[in-house]
Amino acid sequence: MQTITLNNGLTMPQLGFGVWQVPDAEARTVVGEALAAGYRSIDTAAIYGNEKGVGLALRDSGLPRDELFVTTKLWNTDHAGDGALRAFDASLERLGLDYIDLYLIHWPVPSRDRYVDAWRALEKIHAEGRARAVGVSNFGAKHLERLFAETGLVPAVDQVELHPYFPQNGLRALNAEHGITTEAWSPLGQGRGLLEDQTLVAIGAKHGKTAAQVVLRWHLQLGNVVIPKSVTPERIRQNFDVFDFTLDADDLAAIAALDHGGRIGPDPDTFDWMG
Ligand code: A2P
Repeated sequence: MQTITLNNGLTMPQLGFGVWQVPDAEARTVVGEALAAGYRSIDTAAIYGNEKGVGLALRDSGLPRDELFVTTKLWNTDHAGDGALRAFDASLERLGLDYIDLYLIHWPVPSRDRYVDAWRALEKIHAEGRARAVGVSNFGAKHLERLFAETGLVPAVDQVELHPYFPQNGLRALNAEHGITTEAWSPLGQGRGLLEDQTLVAIGAKHGKTAAQVVLRWHLQLGNVVIPKSVTPERIRQNFDVFDFTLDADDLAAIAALDHGGRIGPDPDTFDWMG
């Protein structure tokens, strides 16, 4: 298992399995497929509505808890007061776990301006040992800089939209400077045009791999934690089969040239959907 060491010393599998948009009723089977394929890190969130299904799959697998790495996230409605503590307990209960490996603030929601409060709550949860690491998601430079200035506590992870069309080079550099691990959501660009990109298809042909495998390999070589999602067993396995080839400097340069700032998801500066 290829791992990344977070800034608090905890190790995390570099390749995990994402379950955004997987219905709860399917999550048990799909996560079961992923665990059978070798994934040990599962990324869910309260708002995904599938923590119960994920928890069932974890138990079905019979794998020891310390071989699993479970991430879940605090929803936007729960930043203030004791909301984060209550939401954390509810996630634990739905997952059927007594600790979380990584707990993230899902979005900064700057229009509400309570993410610093939420961050202090997460630090408390971390200090109590109920989350082995805590971090943020969809935080840009100005949100991170506020956390540094107002709390002095550095997140372990910043999970953001990141793929070859939107590689987030500036944020990756800032994160690296502060010892924050960058984690990529929608690492395959949600499977849309990116996976038909002729540059990626051609690099794949050269290595006997698919465009999806090339993109995942690119993430790994950049040092990102990456959590592709699929509900298709063959793709679940394919996406884990990325440890037997290496992209060369020409491949990496060609992929770097694909950057066109094409964000797919919401802009964290304005996103304030409450679900
Ligand atoms: P499906 O779940 O139907 O298999 P991302 O992780 O970037 O959000 O991308 C997820 C999307 O990409 C899903 O629609 C998924 O489809 C699709 N996908 C995942 N893996 C592959 C793959 N190896 N080849 C083609 N499409 C894939």
